[in-house]
Amino acid sequence: MEVIVTNNYEELSRKAAEIIDSQLKKEPASVLGLATGSTPLGTYKELVKSYEKGQTDYNGVSTLNLDEYVGLSPDHHQSYRCFMDKHFFDLINIRKENTYVPDGRAEDLAEESSRYEQIIDEIGPPDLQLLGIGENGHIGFNEPGTSFESGTHVVELTPSTRQANARFFDTMEEVPTYAVTMGIQSIHKSKRIILLASGKHKAEAIRQLIYGEEDEQFPASSLKGHPDLTLIVDQEAYALV
Ligand code: GLP
Repeated sequence: MEVIVTNNYEELSRKAAEIIDSQLKKEPASVLGLATGSTPLGTYKELVKSYEKGQTDYNGVSTLNLDEYVGLSPDHHQSYRCFMDKHFFDLINIRKENTYVPDGRAEDLAEESSRYEQIIDEIGPPDLQLLGIGENGHIGFNEPGTSFESGTHVVELTPSTRQANARFFDTMEEVPTYAVTMGIQSIHKSKRIILLASGKHKAEAIRQLIYGEEDEQFPASSLKGHPDLTLIVDQEAYALV
C-alpha cells in the first residue's frame, strides 16, 4: 500500500487528478471506476480544469460507477447518475453511452446486479478505481459484514450511512433505504485503486485501515489484499496514524 499525505483537501484533489490525468495520457481508452460522495468532488473539478486547458481527452474513455440508490430516477437530483452528470460527465467530452451507473429503478434488482457485474467484466476491469470511505469503513455501499467475495448486489443501508447522507435530502424519510453497489470482489477487479479520505471525521477509519487486520466488519480492510492500492489522505484524516 502506498500512502500519500497532503496538507489539505485541495492538494489531495490535485494529487488524485494528476494520477488520473497521467493514466489518460498513457492510455486514452482507459476505463475509470468512479465514486460519488463529497470527497471526490474536488478531484472532478481538477479533472475538468485540465480538460478545459486541452490537456485531456475523454472521447475514448469509459467509466463504471460504484453504486446507485434504489428507487431514485436518473434525473432525481440526489441520484448518483445525476451527481456524475452534473459534476463531471456534462463538463467533459465523454460519450454518455460509455458511462455506466447501476440502474436503481430496475424492476428486478437481482437481475440488474448480475447485468452490471457482466458490464464490469465486458467493459472493464477499470484501469483505475477511485474510492471514498465511509466513517464505518464502507466502500461503495458495502456496509460492515459484507462478504469479501461479493459481486454487485443490493444492500440495505445502515442507519449511520443514511444519517451521514441525510444532509443531501430535505427530510430523513426521503433518504433511500436500499442501494445497488459493486461488491468487494467487483472492486478488487480493478488494476489500481486510489482511496481518498479528507477531514477529521475520517481519521478513525484511516487509522483502522492502516493498522487493522483484514476483517469483514470493516469493508475497506479488504483493500489491503489488493496488489496496487494508493491512499491519498490529508493531514486531518491522517491525524490518528
Ligand atoms: C457514500 C458513497 C460512498 C462514499 C461515502 C463517503 O456512502 N456510497 O461511495 O465513499 O458515501 O462519502 P463522503 O465522501 O461524502 O464522505
